Amino acid sequence: MKYNIEVNPTNNSKLSELDFNNIPFGKVFSDHMFVADYYDGAWRDLRIEAYQPLSLTPATMVLHYAQTIFEGMKVLKSPDGIPLLFRPEMHAKRFNRSAHRMAMPDVPEDLFEQAIRELIQLDYKWIPDVPESALYIRPFMFGNDPYIGVRPSDRYQFIIFTAPVGSYYADPVKLLATSQYVRAVEGGTGFAKTGGNYAASLLPQKEARAAGFDQIMWLDAVEHKYIHECGTMNIFIIIDGKVITPATEEGTILEGITRDTFIHLLRASGYEVEIRPVSIDELIEAVDAGKVQDMFGSGTAAVVAPISHFHYKGTTYELPEVANRTISQQLKKDMNNIRSGKSEDLFNWVKPIALAIEQ
Ligand SMILES: Cc1ncc(COP(=O)(O)O)c(C=O)c1O
Repeated sequence: MKYNIEVNPTNNSKLSELDFNNIPFGKVFSDHMFVADYYDGAWRDLRIEAYQPLSLTPATMVLHYAQTIFEGMKVLKSPDGIPLLFRPEMHAKRFNRSAHRMAMPDVPEDLFEQAIRELIQLDYKWIPDVPESALYIRPFMFGNDPYIGVRPSDRYQFIIFTAPVGSYYADPVKLLATSQYVRAVEGGTGFAKTGGNYAASLLPQKEARAAGFDQIMWLDAVEHKYIHECGTMNIFIIIDGKVITPATEEGTILEGITRDTFIHLLRASGYEVEIRPVSIDELIEAVDAGKVQDMFGSGTAAVVAPISHFHYKGTTYELPEVANRTISQQLKKDMNNIRSGKSEDLFNWVKPIALAIEQ
């Protein structure tokens, strides 16, 4: 279905103020945003307008009860300048899985994608050409009834804005595995991309940083034994040539789209990939036996973030030299080449955005 989106372009572009070689992360936003309002049971007033502050009453429900979800994806340019989306339907589906868990309305997948396309058609000049840079897309939705009381909101706003971003993690990451805090429990919201999951991670993250680590390596909430994920990344471990990534069936791990992409790419290259629970004891045993070849985080932001070491119960476990990690380096290259249109897209993941106007 084709939706009617009213477009009101701004006369006041900020593009000339941006130095593409020096983009501060998450602080610069493109000229426009897409907005839709949900009321009386349907999405209405679909529009693209200037990026601008929102007007909310103090009673706006999301500010009190955190009924909010988001997505994060990137658009890159092909060598001939065509904006490319990477697996947008996967993001739309995950958005709706999050929406369902948070008792929010679905956004039709075709509306989700059309809104992104029209927004990028207007702001394509904000896509950086600089290597490792991209235009980050942030769709989000929140309950905006002006109401005090715990129930699902009747009204919602769905907004998409974009932000040019440079490269993400420069250095390999150091993880702290702890049983002091947990991120997600079966029956909870771990699989949903909802604000509360991130809010609850802030104190543990702050304490981990103060102790000299970059991220927490989250363990399961019951036995404090099974590895879940870290920061905003899923985890991959390569032991004896076998690739292992924690299973997500319990609903305690965010199902990363990069994770799914890597599973496909690895299997297509002949690697054995095991998707199963993996315990910290198994990992430590393998490190002690010298069998761990690689351990890395996967996510849209960093693609691959090599994990240099992790700390657990007073001991620091060193992982192999990052320079020797051929599999994850290759994965990063392959994914970057596919999503920027530089190598063949065997899985049909890349969706070009036609530009109506002269580039
Ligand atoms: C908690 C969490 N885990 C994993 C990921 C990785 O997901 P993706 O590969 O879709 O970016 C993210 C980022 O979106 C995240 O926020």
